[in-house]
Amino acid sequence: MSRTVIGVLTAGGDCPGLNAVIRAVVRRAEQIGCEVVGVLDGWKGLMEGDTRPLDRESVRGIIHLGGTILGTSRMDPFVHGDGWPSVEATVKRTGIDTLIVIGGDGSLRTALELSREGLGVVGVPKTIDNDIAATDVTFGFDTAVEIATEAIDRISTTAEAHNRVMLVEVMGRTQGWIATYAGLAGGADAILIPEVPYDLEEVADIIRGRHRRGRNYSIVVVAEGVDPPPGIATAEQLDAFGFRRVGGVAYQIAPVLEELTGFEARVTVLGHLQRGGTPTAFDRVLATRFGAEAADLAAEGVDGVMVALRGTEMQAVSLEEACADVRGVDPRLYEVARSFFG
Ligand code: F6P
Repeated sequence: MSRTVIGVLTAGGDCPGLNAVIRAVVRRAEQIGCEVVGVLDGWKGLMEGDTRPLDRESVRGIIHLGGTILGTSRMDPFVHGDGWPSVEATVKRTGIDTLIVIGGDGSLRTALELSREGLGVVGVPKTIDNDIAATDVTFGFDTAVEIATEAIDRISTTAEAHNRVMLVEVMGRTQGWIATYAGLAGGADAILIPEVPYDLEEVADIIRGRHRRGRNYSIVVVAEGVDPPPGIATAEQLDAFGFRRVGGVAYQIAPVLEELTGFEARVTVLGHLQRGGTPTAFDRVLATRFGAEAADLAAEGVDGVMVALRGTEMQAVSLEEACADVRGVDPRLYEVARSFFG
């Protein structure tokens, strides 16, 4: 009987822990007698036939490395090709029985479409944004929060030295998980997230109140996806794959706060710093558990599912469920953060 062939690809924006997932998939697959084919540069590799065999040796020494040894892209067979026919030749040539797709909501939706067309698929939830509703947490989020929190800690000391209002912009296109967690952990004086409309008059009041109490500096954490202040229009920018490009809204908010408070306001945009470099121990463990579970499911012939962490358990949830909903910040969590503003 021929051995089961598991394909693996990383799609969408990269995320700390991708290599830990790939390593776990390959090592577990070897333990249970499956072959692994790595697909290069996400869906692009599946469309263009760019693959390479992966064995234990090829995943040695990568658990702590950021990025992805397979490469990634935002290319999509349904957007940049004609769906299943544009990947069929590669799937047939490599003999992939089940494809493990390590991706965020967009890539998982693509995986779901392909599974409906007959490809065996197991998803692994990846994103620093932590916005996939079907799992309690995605890998990469913890690392991004650590990086943003450290940045807030560092910015706080220079803010205090110069009596400045410092705006720290973090990633989060539509959901403010990183802003809420890092802002809470870093003791931010205000946190602006896409899910909750903001009022800069209120933020200015918080800052003035701090000054009255002799706290002459403030930290405002801004998720990159919040709307610009009223009256400030921005032309929508798209990246090469047609995705909305965000980043820099804090530069529009800072002058308004400066004007309202009379205090100097400066901006730090953390950007891709939050996605690069070594994953935290938490993310390495989570990524390894996801990878091992995904390989087990693939070997058993289970398909059309995504691995998820529910409480402390690994579970398989249907891709339909995984794609049904994105998860915004829990309003009760945001209320806790808000109660500590100022
Ligand atoms: O979805 C993950 C993410 O890091 C978002 O937080 C961010 O807005 C986006 O990707 C940036 O993507 P890119 O690197 O393609 O500009």
